[in-house]
Amino acid sequence: MLSNLAGDEKRTSLHGHWSSRMAFILAVTGSAVGLGNIWKFPYMAGQNGGGAFVLVYLVCVVVIGMPVMMSEILIGRRGRRNPVATMELLGREEGSSVHWRVVGAMGVLAGILILSYYSMIAGWTLAYIGKSASSSFAGASATAVAAHFGEFVGDWKTVVFWHTIFMSLCVFVVARGVERGLEQAVRFMVPALLILMLVLLGYSISTGFFSQGVAFMFTADFDKLGWGGVLAALGQAFFTLSIGMGAIMAYGAYLPEETSITGSAAAVVTADTSIAILAGLAIFPLVFANGLDPAEGPGLVFQTLPLAFGQMPGGVFFSTIFFVLLAFAAWTSAIGLMEPGVAFIVEQYHRTRAQATIIVGGLIWFIGLGSALSFNVLKDTKFLAGTFFDNVDYLTSNIMLPLGGLLITIFAGWVMCRNSTSDELGGSGSLYSAWRILARFIAPIGILFVLINAVT
Ligand code: PHE
Repeated sequence: MLSNLAGDEKRTSLHGHWSSRMAFILAVTGSAVGLGNIWKFPYMAGQNGGGAFVLVYLVCVVVIGMPVMMSEILIGRRGRRNPVATMELLGREEGSSVHWRVVGAMGVLAGILILSYYSMIAGWTLAYIGKSASSSFAGASATAVAAHFGEFVGDWKTVVFWHTIFMSLCVFVVARGVERGLEQAVRFMVPALLILMLVLLGYSISTGFFSQGVAFMFTADFDKLGWGGVLAALGQAFFTLSIGMGAIMAYGAYLPEETSITGSAAAVVTADTSIAILAGLAIFPLVFANGLDPAEGPGLVFQTLPLAFGQMPGGVFFSTIFFVLLAFAAWTSAIGLMEPGVAFIVEQYHRTRAQATIIVGGLIWFIGLGSALSFNVLKDTKFLAGTFFDNVDYLTSNIMLPLGGLLITIFAGWVMCRNSTSDELGGSGSLYSAWRILARFIAPIGILFVLINAVT
């Protein structure tokens, strides 16, 4: 079917547009680089045996993550609305069904659920800024740092307090509009984070355990992985790239017509993956040097890094800066998690941006209480995948995001006609053909294969 966009070329977004290609790349990188790279990636790799997980994750990023990201951006830019309305509009325009809006709705829900626990972890990083600055960790032993963490998350009032502070920060920024302020934050945050990771890496190398860390990360032993681990790696690829839930689609809606989607996606994927690998390379040698357990779980980064900083010259300074940057990284990601829901409420229910943000933020805060309590009051209340937090994490990363990605690639690869997609991706060269093969066959079949094997 031919695209009927002709005559409607100047479709614009209600929420404004990015000021430049760089602004868009910065915003998407800001959304992608976050707790997923520094907090989640190392502990997931640790829990799933290291090398094999990392390898599967890298393959997923390239052959599935990249085409899904490109599909999301092109769908977003073509629709120029919130993910629900965009999927509905394009579904109709491409002669398929308005029910494609369900994919957008699932994304809105996934964003809300992810941010509910993401905000709690971001709250931990806020608390650790203060702890670092007051040199709580200077010269501390591994047991002391671990005990400190245990005590901290064990106190529900403190965890809820920091979760509340972080959600307030998100509501504040999102209510003011995405462009202002945020672009600036990402501009210095990502390079600064990169530099600090290099400092940490330098320290890790000096511990003498670097080769052990490298071996753990890059020696693939597939016996330890299993299909559950493969699904976790796929889920991590989606989570870290912010794909499968409409965040990138929402950002794509504000993308100027002439910007290259392939180039932007490649830049973001490269930056995001490099930061995750660097984080792993910095953290695992520290784990082995201090006799810690790589399968420690969500507390891993909060136990290894303060320990390393505590022993490093200038540690108080570096540690404080590190947690400030991590909080910023979480902040710029959290905004991407809220954007689909907020844009949806503004457009659908004709609320002001401020009202929509408060409604969505309040809901997220409330659901987040379940995760905040999962580390203390409710830590022994387990069902299905574990605690409330474990369940929300499993449901979103391992089911909702891959499912969203599957449907998005099917939509872009099969439902949208060739003219529409080549129009957005610019031409019909070999890059376009590669995208089309990945989006039509490799990515959907790969996702389906992993999902089926992991749940049966
Ligand atoms: N990619 C972010 C991170 O790695 C998390 C995120 C997921 C942000 C989905 C937006 C949308 O921390």
